[in-house]
Amino acid sequence: MNTNQELILTGDRTTGQLHLGHYVGSLRSRVELQETYKTYILLADVQALTTHYDQPELIANSVHQVTLDYLAVGIDPNKTTLFIQSMIPEIAELTVIFSMFVTVNTLRHNPTIKTEARDRGYTDLYYGFLGYPVSQAADIAFCKATLVPAGEDQIPHVETARKLVRRFNELYAPVFPEPRILTGERLGGLDGIGKMSKSMGNAISLNATPDDVKAKLTKAKTDPARIHRSDPGHPDICPVYAYHQLFRSIYADDIHASCSQGKIGCTDCKQLAGGAINELLEPFRERRNYYEQRENEVKEMLIEGTRQARNTAKETMLEVREAMGIRYFDV
Ligand code: TRP
Ligand code: SF4
Repeated sequence: MNTNQELILTGDRTTGQLHLGHYVGSLRSRVELQETYKTYILLADVQALTTHYDQPELIANSVHQVTLDYLAVGIDPNKTTLFIQSMIPEIAELTVIFSMFVTVNTLRHNPTIKTEARDRGYTDLYYGFLGYPVSQAADIAFCKATLVPAGEDQIPHVETARKLVRRFNELYAPVFPEPRILTGERLGGLDGIGKMSKSMGNAISLNATPDDVKAKLTKAKTDPARIHRSDPGHPDICPVYAYHQLFRSIYADDIHASCSQGKIGCTDCKQLAGGAINELLEPFRERRNYYEQRENEVKEMLIEGTRQARNTAKETMLEVREAMGIRYFDV
């Protein structure tokens, strides 16, 4: 990785609470990065509208919930600028400008757009949905971010962002750095099918109670070859084993051996995995609880973060206008 000064921007769509997949995919590295680098995290409520425009209450409520998720995992408002996307009109402005440099076909071929459209059963794509990678490029560019910690499904979007800023820089003046993505681990769902995702119902949310965690793991799929406790298992294809590994359970190596030799039952194994997950989640529960009782403090922090982001965005848009020769006058 480039060891020069980085500027971090990332965020999440506010369409529901975050889960363990978000944690290992990106939240974990954000918490680390904020120690060293200037970090912006956006609550992507406009992007949430691209799929949930008919549920604005859900989006607004999720802004609150996702903020708590961030604070719970250890995003520190004194180190990270947390802000709300829709409150920064300059991002919308920059989206319009970037939209001049990308063709509809390029967007149609974006693999993440394709997968999401298929999963959601979209045939004719809404303009806002098809264009959200352009808006995401504006999210990344407005603060001149260099590094985007995000899940691997975001790779095509960051690639689009790179192309758009490169085009802008070539056409007008070098205003933007080219951002890179930093991907984390990919977490499979409890059903052993695909990645962990709220819409697939195979997720453990970050605010799961110990009982929730237990109940979810009880239902989790395991290696189908194991019918009896003495049947040798294949931990490498078992979703529960993946959790052992990812949550740094001290038991992971032992589990691998015992499962392969048919010396541990899945029920016991799940209980150990649940223990490791609960150990991870416990401090999150405490911090969430702390902030849940300080609604005003959380609101003030969002206002302050949004104000800072807005100031940065205004400065960048002046540079954009200068570069393009369309800063006719200041109003
Ligand atoms: N697309 C991201 C998601 O699906 C959310 C997002 C919006 C984002 N703008 C961003 C991520 C900018 C990284 C950088 O959750
Ligand atoms: Fe999976 Fe554990 Fe059962 Fe092995 S023992 S199949 S790793 S749940």
